[in-house]
Amino acid sequence: MSKNRKDEHIQLARKFYSTKENDFDRVRFIPNALPEIDIQHTNISTEFLGLSFSRPFYINALTGGSAKALEINKMLGEVAGKTGVLIASGSVVAALKDDTLIPSFRSLREANPNGRIFANINANTSVEMAIRAIQITQADGLQIHLNVAQELIMPEGERSFSSWRKNIQQIIQQIQLPIIVKEVGCGMSRETIEELFAIGVKAVDISGVGGTNFVAIENERRSEKELTHFENWGLSTVESLLESQKMQRKMTILASGGVRNGMDIAKSLALGAKGVGISGAILKILTEKGVNATIEWMLQLEEELHILFTLLGVRTIEELQNKSELLFDNSLRNFCLDRGI
Ligand code: FNR
Repeated sequence: MSKNRKDEHIQLARKFYSTKENDFDRVRFIPNALPEIDIQHTNISTEFLGLSFSRPFYINALTGGSAKALEINKMLGEVAGKTGVLIASGSVVAALKDDTLIPSFRSLREANPNGRIFANINANTSVEMAIRAIQITQADGLQIHLNVAQELIMPEGERSFSSWRKNIQQIIQQIQLPIIVKEVGCGMSRETIEELFAIGVKAVDISGVGGTNFVAIENERRSEKELTHFENWGLSTVESLLESQKMQRKMTILASGGVRNGMDIAKSLALGAKGVGISGAILKILTEKGVNATIEWMLQLEEELHILFTLLGVRTIEELQNKSELLFDNSLRNFCLDRGI
């Protein structure tokens, strides 16, 4: 069942992937026509959770647990190894119950012996199982995903969420590696971020609405596809970043959800993210065009960021966050008014 589910997720995520409009298009930078800067002096490197990266984007959780996933993870590992970006595994939970699935997760480390890898688990996982997931992937850190909407729409999904907070708290207390708590594309409110901070979480990836839509993917897997009206559930990536503003001094905010290009990355960084995750866009280009094209695309993202920093007259991500000015359309302005941002 779970092997099929992984393959269906890959197939449906690719089928539904689109570069259609999302909330990033409702944000604009104020240009700087007289930037006192040379493009060669722009620096897009970032640091979070004690780790430094020359590029501020990463390959977010995708897959594992089937033959197809093994093939994809080998390629993803190679891309991460050659570009030096952080990579998160897909949820390792299936491999905790079935040893035959382990090679598809190990392949990430085999293809990327020296890179930074985070193991992904769900919030139902015990401390012992989380440690096992880290061992399987030889990971440097952990991602714990929150996916209530996905589980509830998933025909065979989880129905009990009352132990999640306690599980996360125990993992945070007992595992001394960098830990990120992430959504899977429905975003996070200020209240959720504050609650996570209160139980000891130091980094969240708000993973918002705008790209891969797991409610739509799970609805497609139902025999009666009756739950389409849930497909807009959640907060967009931009809205979630706005929600995170007050917490940005206290904890690391990472962004993902609907990132299509360097401009979306720059907007996420300007809104306070320390790093930006990409899943759907990478899955699409990797499975259609292969490893080299994916690396080329990442180099293009990097070039776009240097161009944008120059256009804005900022040298670093810190300057981007402090000096650049953003314009929001009316819907986002109303959102800020309603939410007191
Ligand atoms: C995902 N995502 C995901 N997230 C997670 O925490 N654990 C997982 O196992 C998976 N699996 C997965 C499979 C596939 C095929 C896709 C496309 C995505 C969610 C992912 O990490 C990210 O949060 C969302 O996809 C939003 O980002 P994009 O896709 O819009 O860039």
